[in-house]
Amino acid sequence: LETGCLSIIVLGASGDLAKKKTFPALFNLYRQGFLNPDEVHIFGYARTKISDEELRNRIRGYLVDEKNAEQAEALAKFLQLIKYVSGPYDSEEGFEKLDRAISEHEISKNSTEGSSRRLFYLALPPSVYPSVCKMIKTCCMNKSDLGGWTRIVVEKPFGKDLESAEQLSSQIGELFEESQIYRIDHYLGKELVQNMLVLRFANRFFLPLWNRDNIENVQIVFREDFGTEGRGGYFDEYGIIRDIIQNHLLQVLCLVAMEKPISLKPEHIRDEKVKVLQSVVPIKDEEVVLGQYEGYRDDPTVPNESNTPTFATTILRIHNERWEGVPFILKAGKALNSRKAEIRIQFKDVPGDIFKCQKQGRNEFVIRLQPSEAMYMKLTVKQPGLEMHTVQSELDLSYGQRYQGVSIPEAYERLILDTLRGRSSRRCFTGLTKEK
Ligand code: BG6
Repeated sequence: LETGCLSIIVLGASGDLAKKKTFPALFNLYRQGFLNPDEVHIFGYARTKISDEELRNRIRGYLVDEKNAEQAEALAKFLQLIKYVSGPYDSEEGFEKLDRAISEHEISKNSTEGSSRRLFYLALPPSVYPSVCKMIKTCCMNKSDLGGWTRIVVEKPFGKDLESAEQLSSQIGELFEESQIYRIDHYLGKELVQNMLVLRFANRFFLPLWNRDNIENVQIVFREDFGTEGRGGYFDEYGIIRDIIQNHLLQVLCLVAMEKPISLKPEHIRDEKVKVLQSVVPIKDEEVVLGQYEGYRDDPTVPNESNTPTFATTILRIHNERWEGVPFILKAGKALNSRKAEIRIQFKDVPGDIFKCQKQGRNEFVIRLQPSEAMYMKLTVKQPGLEMHTVQSELDLSYGQRYQGVSIPEAYERLILDTLRGRSSRRCFTGLTKEK
């Protein structure tokens, strides 16, 4: 286990992602004892000129229900670990100031010995990644005489198209070693997404069924019951396909469709995922539906004439021996009537079905990623009673019931902890992906 000073620097600290996901995940890790208060310090950096206390007040409400007395105490201590530095994303002066703040903390915590571990979390739009990475490299690397490391965490959208993604990759690659860069997709940190490999490859049940002979179609669906809510500036530039489908849903699709990797090593998992993606045939225009929810343009951060899609559904076809002819239907939408993310595997009808006249529905295997994690199989059984009637029923594994009292970690908690631990061996498994 590594010890010594740990500085976690959240760049874009006053933004939406930091407030809603990064700081809450850090707080949960702290509460559970994964961040040692004798070693850790958290720095927020952003352009907005505010004080430490103002930043704390901005994020406080997102961390915990303050009526929860037990957590209120931990919250007060956690907030004291946070310092704020303001500055632009492209000025050495700002990042030198940040470096001084980090170094001061390192000196005070490591009186005689210890290392300098610095985790930079870019909760920022990708347009500023290159300049921020350059500033980190120029001004804020860990002090090597102390030992330790510097790591960079980046998230999607990683560019806007292939060209910009490649450009971004090479810009960051020039500054940091691959082992220092952690690209995260938080959907891979979700408990039931993590479970996919186990489910598929540790259960004899599924092995013979998981193919075109038995499966009619696969649906991977993301719905949200709220709109852009102040994120219109970001969202309108990217749209639902780049925001959700190209990353989160495609990662899930890879886990559903890939062949068994030869081991759980990240490179082996990555290789199998890449094969799936390479086998996807170009999407046909007639197999895409786009939409925009009513009222989207009323968001003051969205241009009045915007035609950015907030809803998209498309069919992906995987041209290989296992999946030829099986449509993978991907759907994602904001401001719909419910919030749900799930994978539905729909099976073909039973050949020569002698119950056909009364059958109620096809076999289906559903993995609900959220809310209320669950997986269930829909199957036809005899309706209890004297008559030979059939009915649809379920074999149901609802986590809330089966794992009562077990707290399911938030995706970001798992991913941040893995980056801190440098779990490269679990990267692809946990959601930290390697370049290919
Ligand atoms: C983010 C998207 O990656 O995922 C957001 O940018 C979306 O638009 C969010 O709201 C959904 O994440 P979760 O974990 O709440 O389903």
